[in-house]
Amino acid sequence: MSAADKATEPTRAVLPFECKVYQSYIRGLKAWWKDEAYRAVMADAAPLAGKGVAALEAELGKVPSYQLYGWLERHLQQFKYVGRWGLVPVIAAQSAELLPILKQGAERFPERLKLDPNFKVPDYVTDVDTHQHPGSTWSDDYDAFVHESATAGFSFTLGDSEQLVERYARPLVELSQPRDILDLGCATGKSSRALKTAAPQANVFGCDVSAPVLRLAHVRAVEEGMHIEFSQQSAEKLNFADGRFDLVASHWLYHEMPPQAIRIAIREARRVLRRGGVFAIYDMCAVPGGVVGEWLHAGYAARNNEPFAYPLVNLDFETELRAAGFGDVKLEVHAPPGDRMPASRTHYMAMVTAVAQ
Ligand SMILES: C[S@@+](CC[C@H](N)C(=O)[O-])C[C@H]1O[C@@H](n2cnc3c(N)ncnc32)[C@H](O)[C@@H]1O
Repeated sequence: MSAADKATEPTRAVLPFECKVYQSYIRGLKAWWKDEAYRAVMADAAPLAGKGVAALEAELGKVPSYQLYGWLERHLQQFKYVGRWGLVPVIAAQSAELLPILKQGAERFPERLKLDPNFKVPDYVTDVDTHQHPGSTWSDDYDAFVHESATAGFSFTLGDSEQLVERYARPLVELSQPRDILDLGCATGKSSRALKTAAPQANVFGCDVSAPVLRLAHVRAVEEGMHIEFSQQSAEKLNFADGRFDLVASHWLYHEMPPQAIRIAIREARRVLRRGGVFAIYDMCAVPGGVVGEWLHAGYAARNNEPFAYPLVNLDFETELRAAGFGDVKLEVHAPPGDRMPASRTHYMAMVTAVAQ
């Protein structure tokens, strides 16, 4: 193979035609689930809205509309990863081509990728197959490519993930005018790259507990000519000096951490921020829609193997952030007013921002 051929070799997992068809079929069913199946559940839940989460689960657990909704929510996500044309077996079979991409990638600008062979991935990460991805992102190197394919294009509720991450990064950069940015829980670096694009002059750092995704984040940043430094660290214990950053941000991290770990991470974020620096959390921090919204969110957390997504909505961010030395706490949720539920099933995302005092 010539050098020119090599330069054009794909550096991504290649999904064969059959896999693409299978994945499209799952997406089609998901579209039906988030509209028709969801609306049938909403109609059956409406008369019970005055009851609590446990009562809703007990009573609607016997009703076919909710049984079908719950089954589809759990299994469509599972089918995405497993089975003959699921992402895990298809991508694992490409390990011989994919793993050298990470190895060779690590040899370019090696000072920008700091992995810690002695790092202990927290139990709350290793105890669950998050998102029902068998082995999740931390156990095998090929899993980084599985995560990348699983989160490319359309998200869980069929929103365009590239647009969503861009919409997250720009306002944060406008708010904090940062020189130094830390992206916590960066995974394959999509959020880090969005921050670098929004603030090209800033120094951007990404950290995660999982080595495979960090390796791939490094490859993608180098490919895009972006100088971003990635390191294997927990948001709970950062290897950065006090007051190092003026923006510490996270995009979909905290729903994967238990409340006690979040409390520690909030204090750690305050430590590494300069006075006046901005801390930002973009996640499912609040569930509007009253008891029905909370019940569906609790079910989602259980069915999608994200056990901490439910306790996250009961965390009092105002109190926690103030106790850790932040002020000017704002929580913005993009959702219908009051107890209304949206017309389709969607995640209610919230942006929490706070200023280091
Ligand atoms: C949903 S992904 C985040 C995706 C990424 N920010 C993006 O927008 O594409 C959550 C990430 O958080 C990481 N994570 C979990 N606990 C962590 C911790 N204590 N510190 C840092 N990262 C953590 C996981 O390994 C995973 O890669």
